[in-house]
Amino acid sequence: MRIVLGVGGGIAAYKVASLLRLFTEAGHDVTVIPTEASTRFVGTATWEALSGNPVSNSVFDDVHQVNHVRLGHEADLIVIAPATADLLAKAATGQAGDLLTNTLLMARGPVLFAPAMHTEMWQHPATQANVETLRSRGSAVLEPASGRLTGADSGPGRLPEPDAIFDAAMALVDGQADFQLPLAGRIVTISAGGTREPLDPVRFLGNRSSGKQGVALAVAARNAGATVRLLAAHMDVPPPSGVEVVPVETALQLREAALAAAADSDVVIMSAAVADFRPAAVSDTKIKKRDDRDDPVITLVRNPDILHELVERRNSAAPGGRQQLIVGFAAETGDSDGDVLAHARAKLQRKGCDLLVVNHVGTDKVFGQDTNSVVILARSGSEPQEASGTKTEVSAAVISRIGHELNSVSPRA
Ligand code: CTP
Repeated sequence: MRIVLGVGGGIAAYKVASLLRLFTEAGHDVTVIPTEASTRFVGTATWEALSGNPVSNSVFDDVHQVNHVRLGHEADLIVIAPATADLLAKAATGQAGDLLTNTLLMARGPVLFAPAMHTEMWQHPATQANVETLRSRGSAVLEPASGRLTGADSGPGRLPEPDAIFDAAMALVDGQADFQLPLAGRIVTISAGGTREPLDPVRFLGNRSSGKQGVALAVAARNAGATVRLLAAHMDVPPPSGVEVVPVETALQLREAALAAAADSDVVIMSAAVADFRPAAVSDTKIKKRDDRDDPVITLVRNPDILHELVERRNSAAPGGRQQLIVGFAAETGDSDGDVLAHARAKLQRKGCDLLVVNHVGTDKVFGQDTNSVVILARSGSEPQEASGTKTEVSAAVISRIGHELNSVSPRA
């Protein structure tokens, strides 16, 4: 496919190098047209090297080829990233001052704008009117992602992640109208990894959770346009970029972080393996073996059930307040009292969450593995949904289900 990649003059231009890579690695022929302003952020040499095609932003280069006509006509897809407020305005009003805007006027195929700007600029009625105009003419304009912006400010205005723009572009070409980022503007809190409950300064009770599933969920939610907070208990994998990380160690710390984060979250996903018990006493000093005393006996006490508490708090919140979707995870083996699904259904009732993602665990399954097979149960009683594959694929299915629940059942208050 022939793609024209128009690069606007915003700091997010540097992220577009990754997007270009995704296009070229998928076998597409990409011509980059940077605006004059964007070359202050990323130089044309970068685009030439990465695309393997000559780069120009002037209608007066290679005049004999009438580049804007050729590029606009030949493009199977035009992607503008970052689409600055200025570029959206120029496109909406049909200006033609440089090669990119000329090319847009000549375009015959689908056009996708991936905006990035400060929140105030995005929310300004002038920008919103331009977006409306472009959409009404059939162009696709993604919602910007939310999160930290260039300065100290944060809010909607971040360039959606390159993966997300790539997916939206492919969906647009495939004729799928529903390419909007499903979690744009949503705040999603995800707990991941396994808690560690200290016994003394060097020892703890832990579990085998690697954090891979939670991290994959965070990536999927981020790519779906959400602002993501990752409450990270012990993990064997690094947290992803573009998410806020809150490190925690124990179940009690996780409880505190989760309750605080839930206060303004649209979605809370408890994928952490939370220790159900902790040592009743934590020694300040290392517990030594002593021949003159009995070996120590560890007494355990119950940890609070965080998921259950989140549900209780949500349910007792003032009516008309923020709608919140709460998702639990369950690792089940099945036993003489019932199979995996029977246990999971009982747990869904007990915990009261909206969705329960059920893993079937055996000795070699789930923990630390890259693949997974789950069933998603809903409190609403709809049919159980199966998803399997890599943890990335399973996460995409879970996040897509969450997007569906939010967008179809309970629009944001
Ligand atoms: N969870 C939690 N707080 C706990 C224990 C678990 O929030 N103290 C959450 C987990 O993050 C997960 C869900 O509850 O989303 C299911 O956890 P699991 O340990 O499988 O369920 P339990 O209630 O502990 O039931 P059981 O041990 O009987 O299987």
